[in-house]
Amino acid sequence: MYLIGFESSCDETAASVLRVEDGKLTVLSDIIASQVETHRRFGGVVPEIAGRAHIEAISRITYEALSVAGIEPDALDCVAVTSHPGLIGALLVAVNFAKSFALSHRLPLVEVDHMRAHIAAAYLTETPPKPPFLAMAVSGGHTSIYYVADYTDYRLIGSTRDDAIGEAFDKVGRLIGIPYPAGAGFDRLATEGFRKATGLETDFFRAYRKSDAYRDPAMHLPSPALAGDTLDFSFSGLKTAAVNLIHHHEQTGEPLDRALFAARYTYEAVEAVAGKLGVALTQHPGIPLVVSGGVAANSHLRHRLAALAAERGVTLHIPPISLCGDNGAMVAAQGYYEFLAGARATSHLNARATDD
Ligand code: KG4
Ligand code: ZN
Repeated sequence: MYLIGFESSCDETAASVLRVEDGKLTVLSDIIASQVETHRRFGGVVPEIAGRAHIEAISRITYEALSVAGIEPDALDCVAVTSHPGLIGALLVAVNFAKSFALSHRLPLVEVDHMRAHIAAAYLTETPPKPPFLAMAVSGGHTSIYYVADYTDYRLIGSTRDDAIGEAFDKVGRLIGIPYPAGAGFDRLATEGFRKATGLETDFFRAYRKSDAYRDPAMHLPSPALAGDTLDFSFSGLKTAAVNLIHHHEQTGEPLDRALFAARYTYEAVEAVAGKLGVALTQHPGIPLVVSGGVAANSHLRHRLAALAAERGVTLHIPPISLCGDNGAMVAAQGYYEFLAGARATSHLNARATDD
């Protein structure tokens, strides 16, 4: 069967055609119109501008996705669309477009949860995970751990109580002069900092903890992992401490070593995620681990989680970077399983900003 997946929850308009044959998912096209350049000068996504840009892009990228895949709309079997969570004005664009598209081509419509879709990106890899597994979605808006009992049975077992990890990178990155979205630039600056602190070119993460830079009290930052067996996080404390540290340097005129700071900040964020996933693996031993979402592109997080999975003897699935950020293929992938489970949306489908 053939599915088309639509996505417009934040600042990427995306459409993708997916083929499913004998249970194997193959991406035939994956078209993304990114608005990153538009929002950069504001230092973050401006919801009204995002909604308008989605409207301008969605028709073009849909027909591009169909033409790259080489199929006519009538050859499709299902339309999948992200309906929640996200920016309401942004979500509404793909939801309304998908409803009209499904209606005019007499196709069934399924709604998809954006966080499930991020995790479903792992089904598009050469060796897709099979539930049950543990999954973590790390993005600009979420830091959530799920026990995935089945393809459509996601149980939230941990999340952030305030800011998301990606937001924490973006906001603090902006303060040290990294343009929006700061994640990738932060990653590179942290690599520089880890190398400087340890004198090692690679494999510096573990050595960093023993370095003088890590022990430097002027660089102290709190862990965003909440104490105890809870699987919850709080990134606002880390972010506020980082903002204070940066302001202190500005006020005293003492130069801030941006690379060492980025390394320290990244270390706390990554260790918190690894620590909580370690607790989750103890609570649910012997099942695979899936990590996805824009922040799963972080090289330090990828290395650290590979080490954690190896220590615990579990398989780690992290989709390629191209599928970690928002895209339509992940929506079509989750849409396929929702379709199989019998879910169907009607013309009353509405977008929701919240998780449920
Ligand atoms: O999943 P995504 O594309 O959109 C949301 O659903 O939010 O995630 C975007 C987030 C941004 O905060 C961006 O800074 C972050 O992913 N990001 C990274 C990296 N690449 C992107 N964060 C840390 N390290 C990276 N290499
Ligand atoms: Zn996302």
